[in-house]
Amino acid sequence: MSRESNLVKQVKGLKEDRKAVILAHNYQLPEVQDIADFVGDSLGLARRAAELQPDVILFCGVHFMAETAAILCPNSTVLMPDSNAGCPMANMINVRQLKNLKAKHHQAVVVCYVNSSAAVKAESDYCCTSSNASSVMEAIPEDRQIVFVPDKYLGSWAARQTSRKVILWEGYCPTHVRILPEHILAQKKKHPKALVLAHPECLTEVSEMADVVTSTSGMVRFCRESPAAEFIIATEIGILHQLKTNSPKKQFYPATELADCPNMKLNNLEKMLWALEDMSPQVTVPGEIAERAKLAIDQMVSIGWKREPAMKNSS
Ligand code: 13P
Ligand code: SF4
Repeated sequence: MSRESNLVKQVKGLKEDRKAVILAHNYQLPEVQDIADFVGDSLGLARRAAELQPDVILFCGVHFMAETAAILCPNSTVLMPDSNAGCPMANMINVRQLKNLKAKHHQAVVVCYVNSSAAVKAESDYCCTSSNASSVMEAIPEDRQIVFVPDKYLGSWAARQTSRKVILWEGYCPTHVRILPEHILAQKKKHPKALVLAHPECLTEVSEMADVVTSTSGMVRFCRESPAAEFIIATEIGILHQLKTNSPKKQFYPATELADCPNMKLNNLEKMLWALEDMSPQVTVPGEIAERAKLAIDQMVSIGWKREPAMKNSS
């Protein structure tokens, strides 16, 4: 038996014993996506966790995603295959910095991107993901100023969509800023019929060159439903597996192979098995922080539901 099929068998068996649900982000390694119960974007996975409230969640993504699941499912044990899988963008703002920003703009409503720590969420009024950032901004009365942290590119994209003036924090995703306008131009030259899809974490110049700007699951859905046959994909390259699984007859070209998030690739089948065996590492959030962060997360989960339903793993 090959390494993969042996591990798949063991993970599946132990998952049943533990009554665990495996949630995987669209950027995970193919072997992780293929064994997951649900594969999706940040919003879809948070909603799926909230709906299911399982005994155990094996969360295959990065730390803030597992933290969000722990807040939404206080009675579940939330495991990560590798607790070193963090998000560098989420670490670009801490509570002290956010408190200082709030003191400067004390009238403003604070919207934080879900790519942030639970402690930062606890200091925010609303949380959002890439799929509902504009809807969240639209839900805020027009006469209120908005502070958006930590991703300046998602914040400015949503501000342009909603014509809102937004005070931005200087955060960004180190993986998405590697996608340059010249990469899109080169791919368009090679594949003139292909549509360009970009994640809103991309540089503004890149988002402006795209035919569609959307979340990772938004991309999967768009490509499946579109009559077009070729797509240039400006986001982390792990998404290619989910795109090909959902639209096997279509062609996908990554804008650049440089857009590879090392944190998302830390999880694998071996670490999934060990996490289920040891019931560790567990992700927990202190009660007082969880309680305050949940208020902002509840707004995120409830806004824009119809636009971005979670996806069942098609494998
Ligand atoms: P999505 O919510 O669109 O899946 O994005 C999460 C993320 O980390 C993008 O880099
Ligand atoms: Fe964070 Fe960027 Fe990796 Fe997404 S791709 S987890 S935003 S570093």
